[in-house]
Amino acid sequence: MTEIKNNKGTRTTQFSRQGKSEKLNAGAKVFRFYLKTFGCQMNVADSDMFAEYLQKCGCLPTENINDAEIIIINTCTVRQHAEDKAFSFIGELKKIKDGKKIVVTGCVAELYGEQLRKMFPQVDLVIGAKNIERFPELIGELVDSYSKIRPVKTGRYKNEQRVTAFVTITRGCDNFCSYCVVPYVRGQEKHRPIKEIIDEIKQLAEQGIKEVTLLGQNVNSYKCDDTDFADLLEEVHKIDGLKRIRFLTNHPKDMNDKIIDMVANLEKVCEHIHLPLQSGSDKILEMMNRKYTRKDYLNLVEKIYKKIQGIALTTDLMVGFPTETEKDFRETLNMVKEVNFDSCFCFKYSVRKKTSVSKLPDDIGLETKKERLQVLLELSKEITLANNGKLLNTIQELLIENTGDSPYNGRTRTNKKVLIEGNPVISSGQIINVKINKISSSLLNGVRS
Ligand code: 5AD
Ligand code: SF4
Repeated sequence: MTEIKNNKGTRTTQFSRQGKSEKLNAGAKVFRFYLKTFGCQMNVADSDMFAEYLQKCGCLPTENINDAEIIIINTCTVRQHAEDKAFSFIGELKKIKDGKKIVVTGCVAELYGEQLRKMFPQVDLVIGAKNIERFPELIGELVDSYSKIRPVKTGRYKNEQRVTAFVTITRGCDNFCSYCVVPYVRGQEKHRPIKEIIDEIKQLAEQGIKEVTLLGQNVNSYKCDDTDFADLLEEVHKIDGLKRIRFLTNHPKDMNDKIIDMVANLEKVCEHIHLPLQSGSDKILEMMNRKYTRKDYLNLVEKIYKKIQGIALTTDLMVGFPTETEKDFRETLNMVKEVNFDSCFCFKYSVRKKTSVSKLPDDIGLETKKERLQVLLELSKEITLANNGKLLNTIQELLIENTGDSPYNGRTRTNKKVLIEGNPVISSGQIINVKINKISSSLLNGVRS
């Protein structure tokens, strides 16, 4: 889970030189928007969509919240902490309201709905996660006085600097893991038609995007008529100009041989699979309604390692789930060692209203949760460091993502960030080879080879 600060450095080419909002000809007002995103990549993708839409309408992004006429907060509620952060951010906006339009979107917006406007009178509009596609219409109604805001039907806004893009292929989730609020706030799983996805990616590739990440709560279960996820990968692979394909996130129960073979055989599909394990204990996995055992997971991993050369596996793990004993926890630690995850996203269990497990007492104390988290994080860091160590002096293929600031950086096919030393003449979107000469658990350094 990442938290994105805001929509950095994105500008319209049309109005890129304007300062404060000002009247344009025909009485249309250009205004600025500030976008704050909490939560997962799905939210980042939705925020990209908001920003692209507003920029197509001639609005300007700003990184200075005080300059903005519209403030959008895209929220997450997966854990209590995420919700608290959103509430505290929205609360602070009271101080700078001054006629600004404040819009709350995403999962907190879905969970609390109009109640949010009672809790925070400074909020003007609430757009829940299930209504995200109505953003253009609803934002248009809100700022009707700004005549530039009108729904634009198709196409994505071209951001000059970007070389990677998220493309949502499914929305919602039908899995109902017992701890998870997502099915309640994002609704039933819905798959986008394949034609729409392919058209969008073709358009992105024509605009210079080199890498797409196909997004969904569980991309493995994608279905459109006779097309499944593996077929979709094959179709995306055919798109000219595109260099890399990634996908997020997977469910072990739906990851199958056909998908594994596609990752192994399709050149553009990168060697990285995020495969949330959650726990290494069969008892806890059953209580979580994950529908696999540790043995199933290990068999799957064995197959993946055997078939896909150089694959990096990453995962999500939870500690302190109700009834989790020291033994259950040790089983999670053992799995982390056995699978040799490249990196782990680790969380303390957090009670979410509506979920089935919320009826059980949250019986693992905060201190124990914190201790287990610490132990897990340390183990995971140790393994990441050892895995990164194996890359020292090897040649890695990088997609250059940023040549704005020195040092330039890029990502390996296994999704590791590398800083490039020296001053090579390279540009964003280029694929180059580097020799790795320095490593830590979070970053690699390399020189062009
Ligand atoms: N408490 C803690 N972590 C959670 N996750 C989902 N729901 C909860 C919860 N109630 C974690 C899972 C999931 C990741 C996105 O967030 O590990 O894979
Ligand atoms: Fe939540 Fe489970 Fe769906 Fe993932 S698969 S979004 S953890 S319910």
